Amino acid sequence: MTGPSFALLATDGVARRGRLATAHGTVETPAFMPVGTAATVKALTPAMVAATGAQMVLANTYHLMLRPSAERIARLGGLHRFMGWDGPILTDSGGFQVMSLASLRTINETGVQFRSHVDGARYELTPERAMEIQYLLDADVTMVLDECVAHPAEPDAVAEAMRRSLRWAARCREAFRARPGYHLFGIVQGGIDPALRAESAAGLRAIGFDGYAVGGLAVGVGQAAMFDVLDVTAPLLPAAQPRYLMGVGKPDDLVGAVARGIDLFDCVIPTRSGRTGQAFSREGALNLRNACHAEDPRPLDESIPCPASRDFSRAYLHHLVRTNEILGAMLLSWHNVAYYQQLMADMRAAIEAGRFDAFCDDFNRRRSGDDQ
Ligand code: GUN
Repeated sequence: MTGPSFALLATDGVARRGRLATAHGTVETPAFMPVGTAATVKALTPAMVAATGAQMVLANTYHLMLRPSAERIARLGGLHRFMGWDGPILTDSGGFQVMSLASLRTINETGVQFRSHVDGARYELTPERAMEIQYLLDADVTMVLDECVAHPAEPDAVAEAMRRSLRWAARCREAFRARPGYHLFGIVQGGIDPALRAESAAGLRAIGFDGYAVGGLAVGVGQAAMFDVLDVTAPLLPAAQPRYLMGVGKPDDLVGAVARGIDLFDCVIPTRSGRTGQAFSREGALNLRNACHAEDPRPLDESIPCPASRDFSRAYLHHLVRTNEILGAMLLSWHNVAYYQQLMADMRAAIEAGRFDAFCDDFNRRRSGDDQ
């Protein structure tokens, strides 16, 4: 690294307003990264993603190593050029996806061996190979290879996975090729046990990373337990570096996590739910399939600067969803990503103005109207 890549611009209580500099541009935090698993934010072109205000997207080592392979993407000029996104990209390391998608997995100290869910071919992902793949992809932020156990799990299994993740994190740090503007983030594991989380955070800090993620919370632990883990974990992370909550979440998860000191998020929820007829709104989630929208001439939200939010009636979106038109998935994905970006922009403004508590109160008061 050449100088600090993360600037803490303001704080309000525990909430933080910052700026992350990368080789492909800066990211205003708190930030939400739309998920582009297979080098595409599903149903959206890069221009549509950028128009929402999103500055950074996430892609997945696991999917891209299987298809079309990191080597092919490198030959084609790297992931930015390949997918037509010239802004920052964070890549997840693959361990989490191997655990949820691959078959016949075995995990040992060396790494994880598995068969592709696509064609059954054998692969091995080691900490060194995970660094190599993310280097070939040209990720602005590389994630360490970790082991995330399902929840609930035996305490011994959680502790063992956390300690193995620490040993792998040290190997990742060793193998990562440091370059200006390129960052390596560690991942705190340890389930819902505060002592294990503390051990993980201390171990990662001793190795030293450019940022710190909190993992193991997108596996169904529930919001209350997740907030408890963040309450004990965030204060143990270096204040001067970015903190990333992996795979989370719903709008109220993001607000609660920002209130607990998190800077960065990713989640499939806005795009996935857009493909199933759900739209987020300031009043809560709307299911556009429902008949109550059939003759509603109002747009989803005129205050969001996205054509999908402003230029189409709920009645039309209801029609598209009911008739399974591709445009329905596109417009709802677009709106949902724009809604998430507006939420992050509103939180950034509230932190800067020292009124984040009032923002949270208002957010919670308005959202009593979920229609599903
Ligand atoms: N995505 C959501 N949770 C996790 C996690 O614990 N580890 C990794 N690598 N990715 C995640």
